[in-house]
Amino acid sequence: MTLDIQNVTKNFPGPRQGFFGRGEGFTALDNVSLSIRKGASFGLVGESGSGKTTLTRCILRLETLSAGNVLFDGVDIHKLTPLEMRRLRSRLQIVFQDPYASLDPRMTIHDIVAEPLVIHGDVVNLNARQRTERVLELLLQVGLRPEHLFRYPHEFSGGQRQRIGIARALAVGPEFLILDEPTSALDVSVQADVLNLLHRLQEELDLTYFFISHDLGVIRYICDDVAVIYRGKLVEQGPVAEIFDHPKSDYTRMLLDAMPDPDPDRSPFRRKAAV
Ligand SMILES: Nc1ncnc2c1ncn2[C@@H]1O[C@H](COP(=O)(O)OP(=O)(O)OP(=O)(O)O)[C@@H](O)[C@H]1O
Ligand SMILES: [Mg+2]
Repeated sequence: MTLDIQNVTKNFPGPRQGFFGRGEGFTALDNVSLSIRKGASFGLVGESGSGKTTLTRCILRLETLSAGNVLFDGVDIHKLTPLEMRRLRSRLQIVFQDPYASLDPRMTIHDIVAEPLVIHGDVVNLNARQRTERVLELLLQVGLRPEHLFRYPHEFSGGQRQRIGIARALAVGPEFLILDEPTSALDVSVQADVLNLLHRLQEELDLTYFFISHDLGVIRYICDDVAVIYRGKLVEQGPVAEIFDHPKSDYTRMLLDAMPDPDPDRSPFRRKAAV
């Protein structure tokens, strides 16, 4: 499975002005191209408002494109029928930034994690008992416990909630995960635990990650390749080590300079091998 983003541009129309016409529009993505190969962990880094979430919404077809293509295994996502799109969505899941807002407070953990199994019942054909078994398996996989099954989101910490979000994203056995700032709402100590979990899951389940963050330390810890986005444009991309050691653009250099220089022996973000 490969994801190819080819020359994607996204313009948002400006506000309505009178009966005719609109104010000036806004270009959130400007001719963005990148390619994520199977098994990779591809990072996207950029400051707030640079277009990161808009790009994930374009990949998931939650936005129409103004120009360009998004190809999944060579197939143009924006040309799929609704049924084909739903099938594809079982292979392509997302973990959201805010584990407080993304879990329905009225649903038990069981129902939250089982929901995608119901939605994609034509792909993963499980009866109610098998679904519960699958949910239990997923909870253990993300470091939660069987007794958590019938509790509600408010009974969990931020880190635990993000584990629930991850379990939900993994439920239907996707190949590809989009992680949109999955740890930035969490305390630093909890962040490291969730990053470790994501790193372990990627290896265990042979997942491909598109990992979005404004934090270069997190990207360095998790990713093999990285693209740097600034005001909707990619300013550079390449292997993480290369971009970190030999940044080509002033913007990347500025991001690197702004990064705290953590004690290498203590930082959880230092190197994959260190944890
Ligand atoms: N539906 C919309 N209509 C108009 N403008 C939008 C819309 N959605 C996003 N934008 C604008 O597009 C730009 C990029 O937004 P986006 O949410 O992609 O940024 P981001 O990089 O994810 O930021 P953050 O790090 O804060 O999450 C912003 O200036 C935003 O205001
Ligand atoms: Mg965002």
